[in-house]
Parts: sequence; C-alpha cells; structure tokens
Amino acid sequence: MEYQEKKFNLSMLDGISPKSVEEHLGLYAGYVKNFNAMTALAGELMKDSDLPAAPGSTAQAGKNTHAIAELMRRRSFEFGGMRLHELYFPQWEGAPQALNPESGLGQSLTRQYGNAEYAMKEVRQVAAMRGPGWSLLYWDKEAGQFLVGFTGEQHQGHFVTLPVILALDVWEHAYLLDYGAQGKGKYVDAFFKNLNWAVMEERFSKLQQ
Ligand SMILES: [Fe+2]
Repeated sequence: MEYQEKKFNLSMLDGISPKSVEEHLGLYAGYVKNFNAMTALAGELMKDSDLPAAPGSTAQAGKNTHAIAELMRRRSFEFGGMRLHELYFPQWEGAPQALNPESGLGQSLTRQYGNAEYAMKEVRQVAAMRGPGWSLLYWDKEAGQFLVGFTGEQHQGHFVTLPVILALDVWEHAYLLDYGAQGKGKYVDAFFKNLNWAVMEERFSKLQQ
C-alpha cells in the first residue's frame, strides 16, 4: 500500500509566513514520496537478492545485501519525517486556542509538572538543543507520565512505542525563511502562539480510552 500525502486546513499564521508553510509542506510531501519509493525499491532488490551470508562467515554477502541494508537504515528517516509532519501541521488547524486547564491533558500536565507552563519550558529547553530534529512531548500510558525528548533527524532517539502529544519541528527549514539561521527562538515563540491546544487535548483524550 502506498502512503498518501495528507492535506492540512491551515489559515494565516502569526509569525510564520505562508511561503514558509508552503515550502515546509513541500518537504513533507517529499517524505511521503521517498518512503513509497524506497519501499518499492527494497521490495525489488529483495526479490532479486541471495540471502546474506551468515554472521561471521567470510563468504560474500548476497547480491543486493548492502543496498538493502542502506535502504532499511534510511527508510525510517522518511517514515519519521512523514508521520512527524502529520502531527505537526494539524496543531495549527482551526483558531489558536489556549490549553484548557480543566481538560484531561491540562490536569495531567499540572499533576506531573506543577503547571503546564513548566512542561512547555521543558519542551522549549529541548528545542534549544543544537542540531536538527524535534522536541517531542510523549505520553507513557504504562507509567502514567509524560516524557519530553529530542529526536535527531526524524527517526533517531524516539521513546519506542510512545505516542506523541506535541511535536515541535526544530529543523532549520522550519524557520530559516522567516527568521534566518539564528532565529530558532523567535520561531519557537511563533509556534506556540499559533497552537490550537484542542488538538493536543483530543490526542491525549483518545489515549485514555
Ligand atoms: Fe519539518
């Protein structure tokens, strides 16, 4: 099954230009296309490959072993880029709306962090890290707590199996056009200013069912 590019219903954002959003959406589309292309190519190469040599064997690897290995290593980069952007853009759909402190998400953030603002301070702290990636707020249902993490590129460093509640893209492509290479802080301010917290509240609510 091929993955399809999703459409997002975004209106004018405050501090993030339509041109920046348009270019960013183009990058998102690239992740979808490349994931599909790599999946198709891996399938072709596997059909036409000998089994790889056993570990420790001095025999030559199968015909497409190395090509398949690199595809497998990089394919999750494309998948991560696709899914993270599908979490990112909807956070701005509808009108900006503050977090409802009485919502399940609001109450749970307050219970863990004392107040939701402190949780967002952690998200901002991680966003300030050097290097491309994402600052992510995850929910660990098993432990009943949130975790804030940094995902390098699109696919490295995730808390495996944990769903993402809030996704903040801190690749330079997210802010270069509007704020320049050193404008991450201003972009992060704009990111938060435009958030419709009803989206994150709903994500959290669905995970409680
Ligand atoms: Fe991005």
